[in-house]
Amino acid sequence: MWIANDISTLRDHRAKAHGRVALVPTMGALHDGHLSLIKRAHEIGHTVIVSLFVNPTQFAPHEDLEKYPRPFKEDVKKCLAAQVDGLFAPTVDAMYPPEVLSSEVNIPELAKELEGASRPTHFAGVCRVVAKLFNMVKPHAACFGSKDYQQLAVIRAMVEDLAFDIQIEACPTIREADGLAMSSRNVYLQEDERHHALGLSKALSEAQQMIQAGESDPLIVERAMQQVMTAHHVAVDYAVIRHAQTLRQLDSLNLQVTGSAVALVAGKVGNVRLIDNRVIDADG
Ligand code: PAF
Repeated sequence: MWIANDISTLRDHRAKAHGRVALVPTMGALHDGHLSLIKRAHEIGHTVIVSLFVNPTQFAPHEDLEKYPRPFKEDVKKCLAAQVDGLFAPTVDAMYPPEVLSSEVNIPELAKELEGASRPTHFAGVCRVVAKLFNMVKPHAACFGSKDYQQLAVIRAMVEDLAFDIQIEACPTIREADGLAMSSRNVYLQEDERHHALGLSKALSEAQQMIQAGESDPLIVERAMQQVMTAHHVAVDYAVIRHAQTLRQLDSLNLQVTGSAVALVAGKVGNVRLIDNRVIDADG
């Protein structure tokens, strides 16, 4: 497995890569969720490249950029074990050379609400770094986790609008045995908080049960999700039901008419902000 820390080394390796190249963009601290993306990348590509970069532009000044976990050696071992062909781990200066003027990439219509409401600059940072990674790595396909549901929608929109010729592969959320969605931020959770964090997946199950039992008023379902989260000591940021593709609000939950809905939740457990989601179809 080669490791590149700068763009020219990456490009040398990329020029020698054979077949379809599948990219797995990550911020490191790899867990089983990332490993499932790598597995999928092997299925859809001949060469698998993982990028590992804690992207400063997607963190607001008060967020956890400094303390975000960076277990580089363990990440390298995990990539080796997962038979990754190349690891692109650029420095901040390689990704954002100080002398280069910065550009903006954003999808305002999708990026303002939900995660964007609490993190107004977040998706512009994600779009910018993902666009740069696409131009640097030139993959044929890229794998993203569905846990970051809104991120996936934003990236799909960017790929469509900017005409990147890249297949975006959405991979299922990987969960712990008790339902907690895997996240690099789970390592911050204290023992009692780890239990409280289940409030997010339980709220999603509540929403699914209510909708499948025939509840058609999104506001009633949203209130029930909030109650589940609050009962688990989660400080609710949002608990909403949206159209699964457009993320727009739904007046009524007649899934036969509207197609799938998605329940999206975000909240803080202690100081740790967590998100989760579940797509809910008419047929269950
Ligand atoms: O989902 C992530 O880990 C990051 O947002 C991504 C896509 C690697 C961009 O930094």
